[in-house]
Amino acid sequence: MSEANIESILQEKRLFSPPTDFSEKAHIKNFQDYQQLYEKAKANPEKFWAELAETELDWFQKWDTILDWQPPFAKWFVNGKINISYNCLDRHLKTWRKNKAALIWEGEPGDSRTLTYAQLHREVCQFANVLKQLGVTKGDRVGIYMPMIPEAAIAMLACARIGAPHTVIFGGFSAEALQNRLLDAQAKLVITADGGFRKDKIVALKEQVDQALTNNGAPSVENVLVVERTKQKIHMEAGRDHWWHDLQQSVSADCPAEPMDSEDLLFILYTSGTTGKPKGVVHTTGGYNLYTHMTTKWIFDLKDTDVYWCTADVGWITGHSYIVYGPLSNGATTLMYEGVPRSSNLGCFWDVVEKYSVNIFYTAPTAIRAFIKMGEHHPKSRNLSSLRLLGTVGEPINPEAWMWYHKIIGNQRCPIIDTWWQTETGGVMITPLPGAISTKPGSCTLPFPGILADIVDLEGNPVSDNQGGYLAVKYPWPGMMRTVYGDPDRFRRTYWEHIPPKNGKYLYFAGDGARKDEDGYFWVMGRVDDVINVSGHRLGTMEIESALVSHPAVAEAAVVGKPDEIKGEEIFAFVTLEGNYTANDDLKNQLKQHVVQEIGAIARPGDIRFTDAMPKTRSGKIMRRLLRNLAAGQDVSGDTSTLEDRSVLDKLREGD
Ligand code: WT7
Repeated sequence: MSEANIESILQEKRLFSPPTDFSEKAHIKNFQDYQQLYEKAKANPEKFWAELAETELDWFQKWDTILDWQPPFAKWFVNGKINISYNCLDRHLKTWRKNKAALIWEGEPGDSRTLTYAQLHREVCQFANVLKQLGVTKGDRVGIYMPMIPEAAIAMLACARIGAPHTVIFGGFSAEALQNRLLDAQAKLVITADGGFRKDKIVALKEQVDQALTNNGAPSVENVLVVERTKQKIHMEAGRDHWWHDLQQSVSADCPAEPMDSEDLLFILYTSGTTGKPKGVVHTTGGYNLYTHMTTKWIFDLKDTDVYWCTADVGWITGHSYIVYGPLSNGATTLMYEGVPRSSNLGCFWDVVEKYSVNIFYTAPTAIRAFIKMGEHHPKSRNLSSLRLLGTVGEPINPEAWMWYHKIIGNQRCPIIDTWWQTETGGVMITPLPGAISTKPGSCTLPFPGILADIVDLEGNPVSDNQGGYLAVKYPWPGMMRTVYGDPDRFRRTYWEHIPPKNGKYLYFAGDGARKDEDGYFWVMGRVDDVINVSGHRLGTMEIESALVSHPAVAEAAVVGKPDEIKGEEIFAFVTLEGNYTANDDLKNQLKQHVVQEIGAIARPGDIRFTDAMPKTRSGKIMRRLLRNLAAGQDVSGDTSTLEDRSVLDKLREGD
C-alpha cells in the first residue's frame, strides 16, 4: 500500500450507519445483536459452531467431537459424515428451490445459460459418473484448468460429490506453473476446455495442458477431459483426451453423494508464499462447508429472492467460497460472468447488473479503481437500482475508491462490506455485517462471530489501540486451512510459529500489518512478508525472482512491489546480468516474456532495471527496503548505514 493511501486512511473519520430499511430486513439487524452473537461465540466457540452446524447443514452422521485441537493441527466435527455437493444441491431439491435458478451464467461473447437447482444437480451427477468411468475414485486429485463457464462449477461439485479433491488452477497460469501444481498434487486427471474467451481473444487452455503434459511432464495424469467452448482446432491425444460432451451423454444421471468424513480433503488451492514454491493450501469438508455457508448468509445478508454476483474467477479462493460453495449451500442464485471490462465494452459489468437485476455485487478494489478511470458515464448510463449491497475483497481499499463505489455504484443507498480474509482462512474473517455494523471507508471493521482476531507484536503481545502490529487469530475456526499439502512442517513454521507459541498458546500469523482503532475497528495495511498484491493477485517475490534467474542472462534478481494507482502494486525487478549479456530494451522484453512463460501473464514485471550490483548488507542480504523505496521513486539517502558498498546505491539512482 502506498504512503499516500496510508496517510488518507489515518485521517479517515467518516462513519456510515446501516440504512434503516436494510437493517430491519437483515439477518443480523443491529449492533447489539452482533455483539451478543460475538460474545456468545467468544465464550464457547465450539458450542457456537456446533449449533450452527446442526441447524444449517445436512449431515449423514453426526460428529462425536466438535473440535480436536492439537496445535497447530485442528480437526472439526470429528467423525461427522457430510458431503458439500449434497448440501449445495440435493437438499434444495426437496424444497421449492428445486426449480429456482442456481447458476446464471453470462458468456463474454453474449451467450448465456441458466441452470436451476434440478438441472445443476443432474449435470453434476452425470459428470461425477464420467469421472468414475475414467477411474477416478475417492481421494484421487483432479486438476481443473478452465475458463469461467458453468462446467467449471459443475466439475468442482462433481469432484466433491465423489470425494475426489480438486485443485483449480487459474486459467491465467502458464503451462509451467500448471505442470508444477499438477505434479505437487499428483493429479490423476485434468479438466480443461479447448479455449476460453478473454478480452475478445481466445486463451488456448488446451495447448497449455498439452505442453504441461508433454514428455511425461506430469506422469500421474491419466486422462484429460475437454469442454468445447471456443471451437478452435486443438490436438486430441488418442487414449488420453476425451470430449466432455461425448462422455456426458453416455452416463446415467444417478450418482448418490459419497458420505465424506468431515476432515476428508475437499480441495487444494495453490497460493504464493515467501519461498519460490507455491503452497498447496488444504481445505477439508465439514468445517469449510459450515464456514462458507455461515459467512455467505450473514455477510451478504442473503435473501431467497437475491441475484448474487461475485466477479472473482473460480481459480481463486473467492471463486471457490463465494461463487460456488457458500452461495449454493444457501440455495442462492449465483451469477457467473466470463468477461472482464475490455476496450470493446468498458461498461460490461453494469450491463450484467442491469440485465439480471443483480442485488448483491462483490468485487475487488483494483476493479473499482479501474472503473473510476474508465469514467462514471459507464455505470451512470445503466440502471443499477436493483443493487442493495456492495462488497470488496483482495486488498485494502483506499477511502477515495470506497466513496466512489458508495456514490456512483451504490447511489448512497447500499452498505459496503470490506471483507478481509485469505486463501488460508477459507472464508471472510473481518467484515461489517451490513445491517449491524457502521462502516468507515478503508476499514474492514470487526471480526465475524467466532473469530478471535487481534493485533500483536512479534512476541505475541497485544499492542495498544492505533499502534501498528501484526494481524493474528487466537483460536481455531472451522474454515481454517488444515495444512500445506505434503508439507505439514511448512504449515507449522509459516503460520503458527512465526510468532513463537507461549505456554501452549498458538497464534495464527496472517502475514498482514494492521492496526485497531479506539472503536476496535481493524485497518489492514498490507503484507509484511515478501508477498506482493498485484490487482488483488497474490504473488511471491521469490517466485518471480526464481523465474528470472532461470533465464541464462540473469545472474541475480530482486523483485519488489511498486505502488500503482490501479493495480495497488506493480512488479518491479532489479536484475544483474551474466558477464557476456548487454543490458538493453530487447533483453528487458525477453525477460518479461520469460516470466510470463514460467508463471503466467499475471506475473509479468511492469518494469525491470538492470544494475551492476545489488545493495547488500555486510552479511550479504539484499536490502529490499532500499529497493522498494527506489522503485517508488523515494529518497533513499537516510538510514543506509548497514549498506556494504554505498557506491552501489549511487549507481542505482543514476539508473532512474
Ligand atoms: C491477502 C490474501 C481472500 C480472497 C482474496 C485474496 C489481502 C484480502 C483484504 C481486505 C485488506 C486484504 C491481505 C491478505 N487482503 N482482503 N479486505 N483488506 N487486505 O486472497 O490471495 O489469499 O490474499 O489479500 O494482504 O493477506 P489471497
